[in-house]
Amino acid sequence: MSAHGDPIPMTSRAGGPLTGTAHVPGDKSISHRALILGALSVGETTVTGLLEGQDVLDTARAMRAFGAEVARDDDGTWHIYGVGVGGFAEPDQVIDCGNSGTGVRLIMGAMATCPITVCFTGDASLNGRPMARVTDPLTLFGARATGRAGGRLPMMIEGARTPVPVRYTVPVPSAQVKSAVLLAGLGAPGQTVVIEKEATRDHTERMLAGFGAQITVEHSDEGRVITLTGQPDLRPQTIAVPRDPSSAAFPVCAALITPGSDVLVPNIGLNPTRAGLFETLREMGADLSYENPREEGGEPVADLRARYSPDMHGIEVPPERAASMIDEYPVLSVVAACAQGITKMHGVKELRVKESDRIDAMAQGLRACGVTVEDGPDWWHVTGLGAGNVPGGAVVQSRLDHRIAMSFLCLGLAAQAPVGVDDGGPIATSFPIFEGLMGGLGAHLTRG
Ligand code: S3P
Repeated sequence: MSAHGDPIPMTSRAGGPLTGTAHVPGDKSISHRALILGALSVGETTVTGLLEGQDVLDTARAMRAFGAEVARDDDGTWHIYGVGVGGFAEPDQVIDCGNSGTGVRLIMGAMATCPITVCFTGDASLNGRPMARVTDPLTLFGARATGRAGGRLPMMIEGARTPVPVRYTVPVPSAQVKSAVLLAGLGAPGQTVVIEKEATRDHTERMLAGFGAQITVEHSDEGRVITLTGQPDLRPQTIAVPRDPSSAAFPVCAALITPGSDVLVPNIGLNPTRAGLFETLREMGADLSYENPREEGGEPVADLRARYSPDMHGIEVPPERAASMIDEYPVLSVVAACAQGITKMHGVKELRVKESDRIDAMAQGLRACGVTVEDGPDWWHVTGLGAGNVPGGAVVQSRLDHRIAMSFLCLGLAAQAPVGVDDGGPIATSFPIFEGLMGGLGAHLTRG
């Protein structure tokens, strides 16, 4: 079932090449953070290029419930009139974050050092995901959390009345946990220190600095040590959200596996904490170039050009690269199925606690499409059949997971028989224009 309605079965099949230009939507991670930090500053923050996917719209609604004014112009510019650090009002309703782990975890962090009590919930996918990874550090600030067994939503959080700063080493490679602790640290006096052993996406650190917080990053034997001085006056900003590399991954990978394709995906943020997929694809022999590389708003940006690449081969993806491409493993496994030889992916336990268990969802779906997949707790191997040799011909469950749905719809474009997904509805959480954009490139995508 879709998050908010009836299932939308979708099918893709091989047809002509994919050609043209694909303008993918704004970055999901940056969009959530722009709304939350806008709400935590006093005055008007203006955002262009915001992703208007359901996940981000749910965060916008939540910010209104905490007292911020959030409005959208007809031209797509968003305005946030924030309430300031410590200024969140207690919502008089449950905060429903829908499908979004990023939304709920970041908002929990932002409210955990405010003297308010908030009840959080989400859809069936989100309510099955672990929250203790966030509530454990938040209790160190003085917050209290009561959820269902296993630290699941729905969950009530009572913010700390007299918060204390914390020093916390994040036990799993998670930008969401790191960000929740930093956002909570905003409301505590003194310095909050977050240490991550492996670098994860650093949008929160960059954006906090942009909003005027005092934040430093040092590298030590322990890892990346981030120090934030609490209770700052955040200054409202004008933010242009770059386009999402995680969404760009779909037209890029579809072009690489669809005969005759040549697709340009302009203005993609290539922050090194996000660009691991593209490096991996190039190592596999993909014809993928970065055109017009430049800097925009302090982030590296380029236009990606992907051409059909029939000679790709499997590789062993370095586990230390996992955090920089964690959302891209599903679509990478589709490319791997169309390459020659085995692609080995290790150190990816986190994939089991995303919107779905992504290793299991992809492994089962790929097997149904005639591809051999082996998997263990934190690894999986996909045996590629070579270009044009994937049988396809299955209807796969998308498990309330947008990236599973989009990955299999990409596979159908290169498989011998059509590939269906039982529900394409979740695609609207991150890439609401996916169907039209892929159709515009020439993809044969139908409903039903
Ligand atoms: C995100 C962090 C990642 C990623 C998610 C977005 C973020 O999750 O999978 O889609 O915006 O911070 P984890 O931090 O749980 O790895």
